[in-house]
Amino acid sequence: MEKIVSLCKRRGFIFQSSEIYGGLNGVWDYGPLGTELKNNLKQYWWQVMVRERDDVVGLDGAILTHPAVLKASGHADTFTDPMVDCRTCKARLRADQLAEKNGVKQCPNCGGKDLTEARPFNLMFQTPMGASADPASIAYLRPETAQSIFVQFKNVLDVSRKKLPFGIAQIGKAFRNEINPRNFTFRSREFEQMELEYFCRPEQGMDLLAYWLKERIKFYEEIGISRKRLHILDVPEKERAFYSRGTFDIEYEFPFGRQELEGVAYRTDYDLQQHIKASGKSLDYFDEETKERFVPHVVEPSAGVDRTVLALICDAYDEDSAPDEKGKMETRIVMRFHPRMAPIKCAIFPLLRNKAALVAKAREVQALLRPHMNVFYDEGGAIGRRYRRQDEIGTPFGVTVDFETLGEKGEELRDTVTLRDRDSMKQERVAIKDLPQLIPSKIR
Ligand code: GAP
Repeated sequence: MEKIVSLCKRRGFIFQSSEIYGGLNGVWDYGPLGTELKNNLKQYWWQVMVRERDDVVGLDGAILTHPAVLKASGHADTFTDPMVDCRTCKARLRADQLAEKNGVKQCPNCGGKDLTEARPFNLMFQTPMGASADPASIAYLRPETAQSIFVQFKNVLDVSRKKLPFGIAQIGKAFRNEINPRNFTFRSREFEQMELEYFCRPEQGMDLLAYWLKERIKFYEEIGISRKRLHILDVPEKERAFYSRGTFDIEYEFPFGRQELEGVAYRTDYDLQQHIKASGKSLDYFDEETKERFVPHVVEPSAGVDRTVLALICDAYDEDSAPDEKGKMETRIVMRFHPRMAPIKCAIFPLLRNKAALVAKAREVQALLRPHMNVFYDEGGAIGRRYRRQDEIGTPFGVTVDFETLGEKGEELRDTVTLRDRDSMKQERVAIKDLPQLIPSKIR
């Protein structure tokens, strides 16, 4: 994990937020490469979960949330973690994550055993809304994106004219005042979720739970996460939310242990019923064919963007060996991102920076590829070093413009370049004009 955290900082994937002021605990900023990686993940999720389906539409709900919404959903009263204080060092700790020695719970900071009784700590962030300091004018930063989907269910149903089963998807920020943010970005106080609420008839719930679990495992495989590091936990009834008839956690084997990436839950009609009761508005569905009116049930695949980015980074990290400039083998750090997820798809190198014709041609290749993918031009240092820099950030393809490209080694090679594959390190000679089709065909 140390190597991964250090690479993330060194190469600009993830930085501690407000670092120059000592950092803001549990809050992270994504650097240039992290932003690309995160965007690729979110775009691919949106592509397969919304755009490629007739039965799912999108929503982009507000972060600031009316307290009544979160009262009805149960968050205001029960969205808590058990907290204890260490009387010795004054640390605030999650009661369910305490270390134990000889059956006695201890403070992980100072080893102290003088701990308070556990009490519930609500994880929601509040903020005053408007100019008055009236306690009645507080709003919450949403703790999940799901609630705006339930609250807008009727509006979306009316405008989209969808028939059951259909879903509403959303990607966006969520906030939880975690007692102990930890494991890099894994448990943060500000994070993003990718959630789908898939509404259905009650009798379809269990089958759709199995369907969405399969779809979501397929998704992780398609973004390049190895199946052997993914695990499915069938959450036992006593650990599920009381309204859920079935929940699966999709877990990933992080270097710090097996932890949840996503929950796929059959939530019955609990959320819509709660909002019906609290708002007094109807959130039901009229089935034209059977002439029945009822409150739909819902199956919810709910994934964390930041946790998936972290899993992508952990899964991609590899070390092998490659020859240096003098042919001596050295350790190579290589991020084996699936090309679909890689922040930069193709790097373009003129063999030498001081040969104007090579530089001009390489710039032409950059301009040719730019409309098709995220490319990066690099002319600094020996070519081997430049390859290594791209391997370390997971760029799957490298194009080198050399003297053959200029026609100096025979006319038949003019306007051809070498195309290098990150994983095999093999190079093939290809015509520049073929690159805009060839590289995307290897990315999809
Ligand atoms: N709407 C259901 C819901 O929010 P959840 O299991 O509390 O369920 C869903 O959260 C996902 O959101 C988790 O599987 C995880 O990927 C992500 N998530 C939750 N809390 C997080 C945190 N503190 N930091 C980063 N990601 C988090």
